[in-house]
Amino acid sequence: MKQQLEKIRMEAMTAIETVKGSAELDALRVRFLGKKGELTAVLKQMGKLSAEERPIMGQIANSVREAIEGKLEQRKTELKAKALEEKLVSETVDVTIPGVPVVLGHKHPMSKVLDEAKEIFVGMGFEVVEGPEVELESYNFTKLNTPYGHPARDRSDTFYITEDDKVLLRTQTSPMQVRVMEQKKPPIRIVAPGRVYRKDEVDATHSPMFHQLEGLVVDEGITMTDLKGTLEHLVKQLYGEDSVVRFRPHHFPFTEPSCEVDVQCFECHGAGCRTCKGEGWIELLGAGMVHPAVLQGCGIDPTQYSGFAFGIGVERMAMRRYAISDLRLIFENDVRFLSQF
Ligand code: PHE
Repeated sequence: MKQQLEKIRMEAMTAIETVKGSAELDALRVRFLGKKGELTAVLKQMGKLSAEERPIMGQIANSVREAIEGKLEQRKTELKAKALEEKLVSETVDVTIPGVPVVLGHKHPMSKVLDEAKEIFVGMGFEVVEGPEVELESYNFTKLNTPYGHPARDRSDTFYITEDDKVLLRTQTSPMQVRVMEQKKPPIRIVAPGRVYRKDEVDATHSPMFHQLEGLVVDEGITMTDLKGTLEHLVKQLYGEDSVVRFRPHHFPFTEPSCEVDVQCFECHGAGCRTCKGEGWIELLGAGMVHPAVLQGCGIDPTQYSGFAFGIGVERMAMRRYAISDLRLIFENDVRFLSQF
């Protein structure tokens, strides 16, 4: 029996010494010390020993167990240290390798200029609202004092969606004037940005889809002077105190009187060049005093209230703001262009 125990001790020591991983180590623990292990098997024979031999064998068996346990523990620590060492080596970071630059995204020039404009209007007490791009004919035309037969309704200019021409892609953001006035009573002060659609061929200044920023103010005693002051403030905030604007008489069915507002060309400062097509000025927006018929149609008494409205071309605003000479650049999304903003 003593020999058996010594044999187990020897075998265990070599086996544990050469073990490679912690799973193997656990297997050895079971093999030598487990309930069905080799040491237990020997101890089961203790009953056959005489009373004198038993304590001696017991002592030897205990020392074998302790030796194996100690060896297992020692090997476990060694394996752990080795694993850590390997991990440290394999995960080493070479701090001398050049980094990969992180390209940060940023806002499109259209979003930037629109955000700026919205902020200027919010600063003047305006509220920002939005409405549908697929619009009813009545909001886009009829309620805006643009009756059937009016040239603005022409099928060659407007994308109609239904055969009966009742549903269309809005050709302007002005239907938002009606939508707001039908919902709210004065005082009203809103701007409404969004996409509009017209059957235009693409060129340096035209696109079948573009953006407008509609504005509407309705209250008692609103005059053309309020309109001028508001728009001049916008232009000076956007383009600088020294920028020059001009108000030109115009016609819109839903405003009376109506005007168009131009800013002096950023390229030639009024002399005339390719960007402004020799005019010296760039048309920025249409505006006017809300037509009494439109107020009336929305249930607002035109003898008590008056208002002004305007529709700004957002692309034009961005082109003037960032000196972009071709509208197509705004929609092509060439990163070489976009990364400049
Ligand atoms: N809706 C007009 C256009 O698209 C612009 C405009 C808006 C004119 C508001 C007057 C008042 O040309």
